[in-house]
Amino acid sequence: MKKIVIKNAEIVTMNNLNEIVHGDLLIENDRIAAVGRQINEHGIEKVIDGKGKTVIPGFVQTHIHLCQSLFRGQADDLELMDWLKKKIWPLEASHDEESSYYSAMLGIGELIQSGTTTIIDMETVHYADFAFQAIAESGIRALSGKVMMDKGKEVPKLLQENTEQSLQESVNLLEKWHDYDSGRIQYAFCPRFVVSCTEELLTNVRDLAAYYRTKIHTHAAENRGEIEIVERERGMRNIVYLDHIGLANPNLILAHCVWLNDEEKEIIKARGVKVSHCPGSNLKLASGVAEIPDMLGMDVIVSLGADGAPCNNNLDMFNEMRLAAVIQKPVHGPTAMNAKTVFQMATIGGAKAAGLEGEIGSLEVGKKADLAILNLNDFHVYPSFGVDTISRIVYSATRADVETTIINGKIVMENRNLKTMDKGIILKESNQSIKRLLKRLPTIQYR
Ligand code: GUN
Ligand code: FE
Repeated sequence: MKKIVIKNAEIVTMNNLNEIVHGDLLIENDRIAAVGRQINEHGIEKVIDGKGKTVIPGFVQTHIHLCQSLFRGQADDLELMDWLKKKIWPLEASHDEESSYYSAMLGIGELIQSGTTTIIDMETVHYADFAFQAIAESGIRALSGKVMMDKGKEVPKLLQENTEQSLQESVNLLEKWHDYDSGRIQYAFCPRFVVSCTEELLTNVRDLAAYYRTKIHTHAAENRGEIEIVERERGMRNIVYLDHIGLANPNLILAHCVWLNDEEKEIIKARGVKVSHCPGSNLKLASGVAEIPDMLGMDVIVSLGADGAPCNNNLDMFNEMRLAAVIQKPVHGPTAMNAKTVFQMATIGGAKAAGLEGEIGSLEVGKKADLAILNLNDFHVYPSFGVDTISRIVYSATRADVETTIINGKIVMENRNLKTMDKGIILKESNQSIKRLLKRLPTIQYR
């Protein structure tokens, strides 16, 4: 049995009592075997000195597009529909095998380096297989799937799918990747948003997800222009429509949910739909400020995601936590979205969205060993005396304070050195990849 012990650390458990304990954390293979009690180092291969360090559950980001990491900086200062039509769709249509792989690796490198251990991801129409390959090699935990788009105007030809093909390719990927590495990878169906999907596609996704017991990951009610298109074409508001066709259920993860009326919030609550809040993306794409305090007040499960690199432009949970907290305060007052609430969204909330609250999201015996070790000994997080640890993490710490990341009991970053990828190669290849991709871009056809 492979054993790792982290000695003499401050451990932020995020268990039901929100306990913070001081002591050792023992990992046996892929799971946590002890929290807080003293562990004898005898017979343990790997001892990590945790003195003065803070151990937290790895962050769970519930809305990511690894396929867009290569497009960081290529699509600034646009609103959603222009951002998609003018920039993101043509760029996604220009992907090939190697650009998909390096885009995923670039994103995962950033995620692991900033303490994110699980993602709910959405790939592009083609080459998702190469993103799955990167996910497999990197060791990150992921729910992912190819995006599905069988409808829409001004969509590059290479992204236009027919319904049958889109469903078949999704099932092919599911059969190859779902439950890979003892469930570290799961397939999730990813219809892009109602604007890009026929009703036939959406109802088939509903049935396939029920049959295979997988999640459905999509965008909804992100932007006013988007919800107008949905209302015009389907005669209903976005969430009302999703409920009308039977998609609103506990396995549905909706990114954004900025523009909801009371009826839609009630549907989300009543059906147990999960909301992925993306404050960085919602601000940068000028989408709006989601009414998260209302939803939390209704006991809706809300989690956090950075979305894609070109609408953020980082995949940094520290940034999302800070934004999630501060953007509500001018309207809802200083106590709205306190540090503890936001940290819960970033950890156990994300685990609930993924349906993995029994496995991840807190540091408890029997759960998977997914965690980050923080070094909070620097000017920007001092003084530490008398300061609540969660406050330090949410309001003062940065991703540079993440020293070591462990996923599924495997050290994927140690003392800031990535163990499952060669950073120099990934940086170099990502530059080469986007250079080649941008050369293909002008050849993109629309009909
Ligand atoms: N809505 C449909 N596609 C996308 C996407 O790629 N990113 C965001 N933020 N919203 C979308
Ligand atoms: Fe998105």
